[in-house]
Amino acid sequence: MNLQVWLTQASERLAAAGVDSHRLEAQLLAAHLFLVDRTWIVAHPEAEVNELAAETLLQRRENREPLAYIVGWREFYGRRFEVAPGVLIPRQETEVLLETALRLAHEGPVLDLGTGSGCLAITLKLERPEIEVWASDISPRALAIARRNAAYHEAKVNFVQSNLFHNFPSIQFEHIISNPPYIADDETLMPEVRNHEPAGALFSGPTGLEFYETLAREAPPYLGFIGKLAVEVGHTQAWNVVNLLIEHGWPNDYVVSDLSGIDRVVVSTRPD
Ligand SMILES: C[S@@+](CC[C@H](N)C(=O)[O-])C[C@H]1O[C@@H](n2cnc3c(N)ncnc32)[C@H](O)[C@@H]1O
Repeated sequence: MNLQVWLTQASERLAAAGVDSHRLEAQLLAAHLFLVDRTWIVAHPEAEVNELAAETLLQRRENREPLAYIVGWREFYGRRFEVAPGVLIPRQETEVLLETALRLAHEGPVLDLGTGSGCLAITLKLERPEIEVWASDISPRALAIARRNAAYHEAKVNFVQSNLFHNFPSIQFEHIISNPPYIADDETLMPEVRNHEPAGALFSGPTGLEFYETLAREAPPYLGFIGKLAVEVGHTQAWNVVNLLIEHGWPNDYVVSDLSGIDRVVVSTRPD
């Protein structure tokens, strides 16, 4: 079967499986199969497809496995990050937290708590090499991938496996950034997310605010005098998080919106 025929059939099957960008995703699966970029796929409709290998990829995507897990990477801030089941796929909206960290940080140390693939910590280090960057996660699987991403990008980041601050050395950070689990247990999610991404990276409890509350209680000793906590929040959570932090003694500095005008990042200062 040639590529043009395969792309037509694959796109129809992905559409029937409920995949939104089915044409584009069929091309991206083919690009992964041929180890080329998408422009090559578009320019070579006559290329012969290895049907068995292509069918395996297509069935995985029909089962709503995320494309990033199938191809093994996702782009974040213009760089490729390896991902695999067990680690959250970086989201574009998290670039708002990265840009906030880039504005806040002087020389560090800055901690990225719950680093997942390492996309925030590694990008921060690559964009601002003078900053000392630390990254932690409770998940050994996520940390292994984050370490591989750091090695691939030659970014010198200090990794710590820790449940919150439990394994931390005595250290005070200039700032702490975190994109924590913030989804409420009963929230409706796409099958790609609910069935394939790690629950420990997504869910924080019944309200979705539980992790922020724990951070509000446990983070102060790990921050310097005017150290800031910058957290990503769910699309309706910003003011709840601002108020929760105020209740725990954290004055709010500001809230940052994404390009769609959704409040995405809350920045607050450590209690006195
Ligand atoms: C929403 S993901 C964010 C991943 C990555 N920072 C990103 O933005 O793509 C949350 C991360 O927090 C980690 N995590 C969950 N509970 C934790 C805990 N108690 N202590 C440390 N990390 C935790 C998860 O394993 C996951 O990697």
